[in-house]
Formats: sequence, structure tokens, C-alpha cells
Amino acid sequence: MVCYNLVMIFIERLEVKDVPALYEIEKLSFAAPKAESVFSEDQHKYFVGKEKERGVEKVFGYIGIEKIAGETHIINMAVHPNYREQGIGTKLIEAVLNDQDVFFLEVRVSNTTAQNLYKKFSFDIVGTRKKYYQDNGEDAYVMRRETK
Ligand SMILES: CC(C)(COP(=O)(O)OP(=O)(O)OC[C@H]1O[C@@H](n2cnc3c(N)ncnc32)[C@H](O)[C@@H]1OP(=O)(O)O)[C@@H](O)C(=O)NCCC(=O)NCCS
Repeated sequence: MVCYNLVMIFIERLEVKDVPALYEIEKLSFAAPKAESVFSEDQHKYFVGKEKERGVEKVFGYIGIEKIAGETHIINMAVHPNYREQGIGTKLIEAVLNDQDVFFLEVRVSNTTAQNLYKKFSFDIVGTRKKYYQDNGEDAYVMRRETK
């Protein structure tokens, strides 16, 4: 839990009612956003960072994970542009990491902000996927974290 302007941020599993807010953050964060239906269909894979004040909830960010061949893939994460650089991304990633499992992800080679966050949590660049992003043909770095 993190305090933003004395408001507490809770990290919880995505609920259907959070999907429109999460989709707004997706659109504000990515040049090629996923469809809203992806989040409804894969609801169980996502965690959201939200504030709860007097019964009103507000979503600030999200992270998605899935198991692939015994490793944990971080599908995606984003924080609303108005609430970045306040530790919410850190709280989201801390909520899903553990030191028993191996984690990996893809990140645009140009996205040094996200790479910095992942490096802080001991992810290393282990490879490159050429032309991984269909919108502009950008390469992806594969980053991996193994702490055992
Ligand atoms: C990447 C992202 C989730 C980080 O969220 P955030 O809430 O701003 O992150 P935090 O405030 O917890 O910062 C954690 C670390 O990220 C890095 N970071 C954050 N903002 C940065 C910036 N503007 N420039 C460089 N590094 C930055 C730093 O290493 C920072 O650690 P520090 O504060 O000790 O320097 C957010 O910038 C975002 O939503 N970006 C757009 C979507 C995206 O790129 N998602 C990742 C897809 S792979």
C-alpha cells in the first residue's frame, strides 16, 4: 500500500467494474492499445492499484501476469500519466514478484523508463525480439529475473 496525497493505494485483483478505467489508462499509455475486451476476458490475469475513499474507488494503474512454460510473464503494466513517478509502478510490480519464480517480459528498446523500473527489480536484458511491435516495427528487449 502506498500513500498518495495521504490517500491509500490498494493493489487488488481486477474486477469487471474497473475495466473501463483500466482501458482509459491503456489508451493514455500506449500508441497501440489493447482492446477493452482483452481486459474483461483476461480479468483473472490483472491486478489494479486503486484508491478507496468514502466508498468511491479510483484506478491509478495495473499490471498483468500469466504463467508460460513454468515461468511468469509480465504481460503489461501502466500507471495513469497524472500519477506517475510517485511509486505506484513500484508497488504494482512488488505485488506480483516473488523470489521463487522466474519472471520475464518484453519491453520496447526505446522505453528506457520501464527498463529502469525493471532493472531496479533485478531484471536483466537477455535477448532481443526483432520487429516485435506491429505498430512501428520496433524491436523488443526480453528482460528476465531469476533470483534462486
Ligand atoms: C513504466 C511506468 C509503469 C512506471 O510507473 P511509475 O508509477 O511512474 O513508477 P515509479 O514511480 O514507481 O518509479 C519506479 C522507477 O521507474 C523508473 N522511472 C520512472 N519514471 C521515470 C522517468 N521519467 N525516467 C526514467 N526512469 C523512470 C525509475 O527507475 C524509478 O525508480 P526511482 O524513482 O528510484 O528512480 C509508467 O511510466 C508508465 O505507465 N509508462 C507507460 C506505459 C509503459 O511503458 N509500460 C511498460 C510497458 S513494458
